[in-house]
Amino acid sequence: TPDIPDIVSAEFNADPYSAYRIMRSEAPLIWHEPMQSYIVSRYEDVQRAFKDEVFTTANYDWQLEPVHGRTILQLSGREHAVRRALVAPAFRGGELRNKFRPVIERNARELIDRFREDGSVDLVSQFATHFPINVIVDMLGLDKADHDRFHKWYTSIIAFLGNLTQDPDVAADGLRTREEFADYMVPIIRERRENPGDDLLSALCRAEIDGTSMSDDDIKAFCSLLLAAGGETTDKALAAMFANLLSHPDQLEAVREDRSLVPKAFAETLRYTPPVHMIMRQPSETVVFSGGEVPAGSTVTCLIGAANRDPERFSNPDTFNVFREEIDASTSFTAAAGHLAFALGRHFCVGALLAETEVEVSANMLLDAMPDARLAADYTPEEKGVFTRGPARVPVEFTPRSA
Ligand code: HEM
Repeated sequence: TPDIPDIVSAEFNADPYSAYRIMRSEAPLIWHEPMQSYIVSRYEDVQRAFKDEVFTTANYDWQLEPVHGRTILQLSGREHAVRRALVAPAFRGGELRNKFRPVIERNARELIDRFREDGSVDLVSQFATHFPINVIVDMLGLDKADHDRFHKWYTSIIAFLGNLTQDPDVAADGLRTREEFADYMVPIIRERRENPGDDLLSALCRAEIDGTSMSDDDIKAFCSLLLAAGGETTDKALAAMFANLLSHPDQLEAVREDRSLVPKAFAETLRYTPPVHMIMRQPSETVVFSGGEVPAGSTVTCLIGAANRDPERFSNPDTFNVFREEIDASTSFTAAAGHLAFALGRHFCVGALLAETEVEVSANMLLDAMPDARLAADYTPEEKGVFTRGPARVPVEFTPRSA
């Protein structure tokens, strides 16, 4: 077997992309004993695991159920389709544009106003970690005054999902979060059933599946999924997009001049530095991948971060290039974009258009507020995370517009 750093090691965390390169070429199918999982890294294999109907989502008994309860990510078949259809309309074109775009704009402006005059900002801690979660809290009609609590909860939930080494403190914190979130949400859900409003939570309370409305617990699980899935990922995508552009000043200038490139910069960021690096699947029958056979019922870890840089699929895959012809700006939030950052098939990210709209709106506002944005002189790029991954900080300097 080639010498590849273990997926849960510090060496891997420091530079997963070098390990991915060896995996793709020399070890396209690995059995990982501690994770009790096969690992695939080639584009064609990851794509297959997402699209082929013999695969269902996996590992969610330890990754999702304990911290969220039952969410659409764990479900399959009709049960999945029916529940997904309850939220999907809120995340599609018309509804997004009409109702939520102003919410997105307002939330971006609120955060930018706090540093607009400062001449410097860390886009991770002062913008990206707050913006998407504020948007989803507003969409659900929850109270933004409780921002710090939501932030703490979603950080704990994400740590729980990425707890590949099963650290007991991280696990305990995640379980505590489930309790705290339920204590917070259930009274609000009950109240909202009595006095529904125009928000997404009221829509979930009103929704009926085969003539029955969802239980308080199911609605709460939906909300914690939306908080975690909608917060963490978009936060990392936004920070990574600015980190990528700021470290390629010529591309940053091109995007600043021609804003129709923003969606391409977003899609290329999702290819080059995806927020979710791996997700698990389980085949119901024996499957033959390019690297060999995987038995029915086993867990397969699909390395999105590796597949997205497969030279068989993308030319010069280790280069960030917003002009990449393989990506069409009009498809940046659809499966046709080509990258696998939103997965594919039945569980394809339901929030992809929302994420794209959030990034597009806020990136344009940030570019306007920071006309000469550049990375702080002392900055050295640093990414964090193995399961989900993004820049640790993106310190930017700029001349305030009013100066
Ligand atoms: C599913 C990535 C933004 C809500 C997924 C999946 C991925 C993903 C990879 C598939 C998971 C699996 O199959 O195991 C991303 C990325 C985002 C993003 C990279 C940002 C750039 C959002 C937003 C929301 C959201 C803003 C909405 C609030 C969901 C939900 C699912 C999902 C509910 C489950 C869909 C299903 O099971 O049918 N996302 N996501 N995501 N995402 Fe996103």
